[in-house]
Amino acid sequence: MPEQVPDTPQRAQRAKKAVIPAAGLATRFLPASKVVPKELFPVVDRPALQYVVEEAVAAGLDDVLLITGRGKSLMIDHFDRRPDLEERLKAKGDQARLEAIIRPAEMATIHSVRQQEALGLGHAVLCAERHVGDEPFAVLLGDDFIDERDPVLPTMVDLAATTGGIVLLLMEVPWEEVHRYGVAVVEPTDTPDVVRVGGLVEKPAREDAPSNLIVVGRYVLPPGIFDAIRRTGRGRGGEIQLTDAMELMRQEGTPVHGVIFRGRRYDTGTPEGCLQAAIRLACDRDDIGPEFRQWLVEYVDRELRG
Ligand code: G1P
Repeated sequence: MPEQVPDTPQRAQRAKKAVIPAAGLATRFLPASKVVPKELFPVVDRPALQYVVEEAVAAGLDDVLLITGRGKSLMIDHFDRRPDLEERLKAKGDQARLEAIIRPAEMATIHSVRQQEALGLGHAVLCAERHVGDEPFAVLLGDDFIDERDPVLPTMVDLAATTGGIVLLLMEVPWEEVHRYGVAVVEPTDTPDVVRVGGLVEKPAREDAPSNLIVVGRYVLPPGIFDAIRRTGRGRGGEIQLTDAMELMRQEGTPVHGVIFRGRRYDTGTPEGCLQAAIRLACDRDDIGPEFRQWLVEYVDRELRG
């Protein structure tokens, strides 16, 4: 019998805060990420991180905690005002750009905390404990770029407010890719595209993977995750894995649900994924799109098709 997911909210609190782990060394993007945090690399004309913050805000989570690391303070500056630049733009009458530079400073309250040692994603999330307190919260990983036209975080936050426990975002990928992700074992529920998770494993070899449904970097977590992380030993890669802490909570009885994502997602943690996201978004923009599309078609015809 598929499980019933109740349609009316029960006891669970609604997540209000977002946590964005951004302390990583970004080795897949060297040498560009040697000095500039990869989270600030542009996707068209906004830093990747701004899209993630916008996604959180659009889901009602305007209290945002960035988990940062050494040499990454520039990320915080992007969400501050720039009076000198604002004056210049005002004098030029460039209202559109003026609004564009003020917006990141006004859309959310940005907090930050340092992860002092790179001990893994679980450890990064644990750094949020003080700020989050005793409430459910969302975690958004910057490398998973979700197209803003396919919003899914509001559905996840709503579901978690109904079911309690953990809510994950899951996506089917080709079997050759499963070893790069957390992988879930699932059972259907009565609600389309909502599944009950019956097991989680971090980056299994293809032959050991229980499914090809991977965990995308969007989570709604209960505050009990902090204690679970503390009780989680080092896992894959010698790091404290969030997946292992969630699996521990599941085994101890915490409900874990997954929302199946069928929208557009890019891995902006690699140069290829970042380019794909930028090209797709640029093509679809009303302002630069028509000219860019025309250039792209001509380029493909001339240079790639011969
Ligand atoms: C992390 C998680 C993994 C998840 C992935 C999503 O891995 O550990 O479970 O599937 O994000 O992008 P990372 O990409 O940090 O190695």
